[in-house]
Amino acid sequence: MSVPVIRTPLPGPKAKALIDRDSTVVSPSYTRGYPLVIERGSGCMVEDVDGNVFLDCAAGIAVNSTGHAHPDVVKAIVEQSGRFLHMSGTDFYYEPQVRLAEELAAVTPIAGGVRSFFGNSGTEAVEACLKLSRYASGRQNIIAFLGGFHGRSMGSLSLTASKAIQRRGFGPLMPGVYHAPFPDCYRCPLGLTTTDCAAECLDFIDHQIFAHLVSPDEVAAIVIEPIQGEGGYVVAPDQFLQRLRALTKEHGILLVADEVQSGMGRSGKMFAIEFSGVEPDMMALAKGIASGLPLGVAVARAGLMAWPPGAHASTFGGNPVSCAAALATIKLLKETLVANAADVGAHMMAGLKSLSDAHPLIGDVRGRGLMIGVELVRNRQTKERATTERDAVVNAAFRRGLLVLGAGKNAVRFSPPLVLTKAQADTAVKIFAEALTEVERAR
Ligand SMILES: Cc1ncc(COP(=O)(O)O)c(C=O)c1O
Repeated sequence: MSVPVIRTPLPGPKAKALIDRDSTVVSPSYTRGYPLVIERGSGCMVEDVDGNVFLDCAAGIAVNSTGHAHPDVVKAIVEQSGRFLHMSGTDFYYEPQVRLAEELAAVTPIAGGVRSFFGNSGTEAVEACLKLSRYASGRQNIIAFLGGFHGRSMGSLSLTASKAIQRRGFGPLMPGVYHAPFPDCYRCPLGLTTTDCAAECLDFIDHQIFAHLVSPDEVAAIVIEPIQGEGGYVVAPDQFLQRLRALTKEHGILLVADEVQSGMGRSGKMFAIEFSGVEPDMMALAKGIASGLPLGVAVARAGLMAWPPGAHASTFGGNPVSCAAALATIKLLKETLVANAADVGAHMMAGLKSLSDAHPLIGDVRGRGLMIGVELVRNRQTKERATTERDAVVNAAFRRGLLVLGAGKNAVRFSPPLVLTKAQADTAVKIFAEALTEVERAR
């Protein structure tokens, strides 16, 4: 099935029953935007427990890179599960972990050899980058960006500056973290466009943070998402990343690319930072890397990852089944899916952009590959953020059988599995347009 079919009111009776059970026993901190209860998935389609079929442009928050239950990935998982489920790659050796480290060394845009540290999630990958940055540089301070999301454990949460609710009540966080403005070109404070931009906003780090807050020789690392994910799918211009690299080199600061969301082919290249030609010192990877199995990896220049036995480890990190899934995933990405993300992504971007004329709520359509954000505004001149309208559009899309998620205060993100076809992209754009119309009429 490749088009949505909605058979019951949403949530249907079985979904409702499960949500009622969930509401008394599961942490209320989760942010469910609409009541989807999955029964099974295949490719880009998801069926709920009541038999409703949805087109998935959320992919479990940009995770199911190869689609739901890709047969090659399932086969790799089944084969590895039959051999052994766990041994702990920190204390013993096994081939899938070594092979995955070799594969990552081959695909990451860092020359001269890289090493991989294995954890289970994005936040653990970021924690490993933080610890390694401090350890390798002998410096303590870190610079991150406003609007950035790097995870929710204490170290990564200290970098996260996406929504205040994510930090509220959890302080004090890790000291020594400074935040700079992210280059949001749609809302450029200097009134520049991407064509006349020379990334002047980077001067904030040089002229404000380094001048008033922290000496650059005490900064271990600058951590950046080449495309902000949770912050609203905001693309950092190439010249910004290039100047950032020059600035970090000048001061001996490590550059860490958090590609947890933008990586593994989603941008139309294996890693989004490749568009700028910039070589980071470290990268945090997770989400799409194993098609849905838990895996987070900190990849670093080999010379940097020179910490001694015992310095850092994780019992479950680099689980062999997750490594097998990652190897199957990377094979599919290299064979067809990175190219498909670029091709279908360009098609979908054009389709979404073409909605602007008929839909005044659309302020900006941006992204790379199949990482597309549509920012909704109440007024194109003032760019007033349409947050309630955004939530209403996401819900209206759900009721029509399209799964999308919000990002930032007022953007809708399209992060489908990278197996999306052009026909499915067209269906998604059509349903999205209907959802926009519904919300625009109700205003
Ligand atoms: C860029 C980025 N970094 C880190 C994380 C944290 O990943 P996890 O939720 O797997 O801990 C996320 C999650 O959304 C992310 O988008």
